[in-house]
Amino acid sequence: MCGIFGCICSSAPRVIADGLKRLEYRGYDSVGIAVISGGRLLLEKDKGMIDPFVRRVDPSRISAEIGIGHTRWATHGAPCKENAHPHLDCTGTIAVAHNGVLENFLEIKEGLLKRGHRFASNTDTEVIPHLIEEGIRDGLSLKSATARAAKMIKGAMAIAVLSSALPDSIVCMKRESPLAIGIGKKGAYCASDVPALLPYTDMIMQLQDDQVAVISRGQVAVETIAGKPVKPRFIKIEWEAGVAEKGGYPHFMLKEMHEQPIAMRSTLKLPHGFLDRASRMMEGRVYLTGSGTSYHACLASSYAFSKMLCMDIRPVYSSEFQDLVCDLEGNTVIGVSQSGETADTLSALRYAKSRGAKVIGITNTLASSITSLSDTYICTQGGPEIGVAATKTFLTQLIALDQLMLRAGLNAGRLPEGVASGLLASLNGVPSLAEGVIRRSEGIRPIAQKYSSRRSAYFLARGINVATAMEGALKLKELSYMHAEGYPAGESKHGPISLVEGDFLCVFVAPRDSSRGRVIGNMMEMKARGARIFAVVTEGDDELKSIADDTFEVPPVPEFLNPVVCTIPLQAFAYYVAVLRGLDPDKPRNLAKSVTVL
Ligand code: AGP
Repeated sequence: MCGIFGCICSSAPRVIADGLKRLEYRGYDSVGIAVISGGRLLLEKDKGMIDPFVRRVDPSRISAEIGIGHTRWATHGAPCKENAHPHLDCTGTIAVAHNGVLENFLEIKEGLLKRGHRFASNTDTEVIPHLIEEGIRDGLSLKSATARAAKMIKGAMAIAVLSSALPDSIVCMKRESPLAIGIGKKGAYCASDVPALLPYTDMIMQLQDDQVAVISRGQVAVETIAGKPVKPRFIKIEWEAGVAEKGGYPHFMLKEMHEQPIAMRSTLKLPHGFLDRASRMMEGRVYLTGSGTSYHACLASSYAFSKMLCMDIRPVYSSEFQDLVCDLEGNTVIGVSQSGETADTLSALRYAKSRGAKVIGITNTLASSITSLSDTYICTQGGPEIGVAATKTFLTQLIALDQLMLRAGLNAGRLPEGVASGLLASLNGVPSLAEGVIRRSEGIRPIAQKYSSRRSAYFLARGINVATAMEGALKLKELSYMHAEGYPAGESKHGPISLVEGDFLCVFVAPRDSSRGRVIGNMMEMKARGARIFAVVTEGDDELKSIADDTFEVPPVPEFLNPVVCTIPLQAFAYYVAVLRGLDPDKPRNLAKSVTVL
């Protein structure tokens, strides 16, 4: 997830810098600005965050009335000056800022190199200005050349294009990644989200997929990439600043929960080469290690590898790794960490490497410590997560690990092609199913209201959803400070059930899967002792709806995908209990986004 800002107005460089500052939450590992000044295209960019960049470049001293800017969250190509956006074509007269992940950039780049183009970066984005350059050379307008390039590219792309040959307009194009356009009294603007535009205008339109817009002072022309004109539809935005920063949501956590589908879709675009390399590196005994939510992703993946491939890969808490694991020579450790900086996980991986293990990293943060520690790594595409509680990064970890599982199954001959493609189709369909669950998740609020004053709760499940139950308990604990414990439902009779008395809250994760029958037995045990049952169930499960006091329905999915759809209502439950308790879900007490101490 990156931030794009463009404008045609007085003091454009300073306005762009201000706009990028508002977009910094979308990415902050490198930054750049391209403007047209005196008929020439000027470019300044660098590794690092916006403030030091602005201090060095001082945009207010650059005289220009049009430009584009970008603040980066690296997905392809480590954070460095060369990989910062905007990127130029060979002539240095076309600049492009991009947000998204291009799927077929390698084959496009190969063709461009063969046709003599020179590249300055190893990003996916840089193919775009060179494709546009070829369109201009073929006599197309900047808009048509951009549209032609978009038709050749597969993947998510929101782009702003600037050319010294068109010094009074910016061309924008959008597919999956967001791009908003604003028209104000003093100029025209485009940005990756609405809040960045609000200081300049409240008349906003969101570009739709596969639309191209040409923005100039006081006017916007929009058409589809096929050339069909589209009537621009501007709406007046009535947001106050604080809410605007969160995209209209009351908290970053809720915003990031709603970003889960696009984060998963982006993570489903992982280049096959990365997955193939990682899966072929899984030699010997394989361990998964992580902390907190990332450990729960490890646990879920361990169940998936076992259930789908009969491969026994062992999940281990990072903080316990060195005490639990000794057999590492010639084996493999997969480290999972959203921040890539969790000290426990880094320590576990250093220990593993020192004892001869191969290390595969799975992280949301390119160029984090885990990437340099790993023999190979996979970067989830969750984008920056501001809320302390992991939400979209957890689901993207599951998606990445599921892709790795399928790839490993194919490479090991444990999954027939036909079965694997069916499972991959289900995996590719799960973001849309999650979208539906998220849309309904506000319906959990009355259930949260009913139980918000409880002092404790059990989160129970069997099979892969033990990981989901543990994640749901962690969310409730860390956000609402209600004591909650997630564990295998079958364990209840071995002690925990002694806590259960009238009104004790038991949250069951009970979708229609191979363990549902046994979970019903556990539910009845709890009910017999007066417990209150809130169950996440598969749509239409009337039997469970008749047993539980409260239910939330999720769509049916293959068993290994249940953690994805079942976690969402538990995130929402924890969020609403916290809000109902008057707490700030974005800043829970005692916690940090990344625990960089042992
Ligand atoms: C989860 O909501 C917490 N923020 C915490 O458990 C977190 O998952 C854990 O600290 C691991 O962080 P990492 O993924 O950055 O390594």
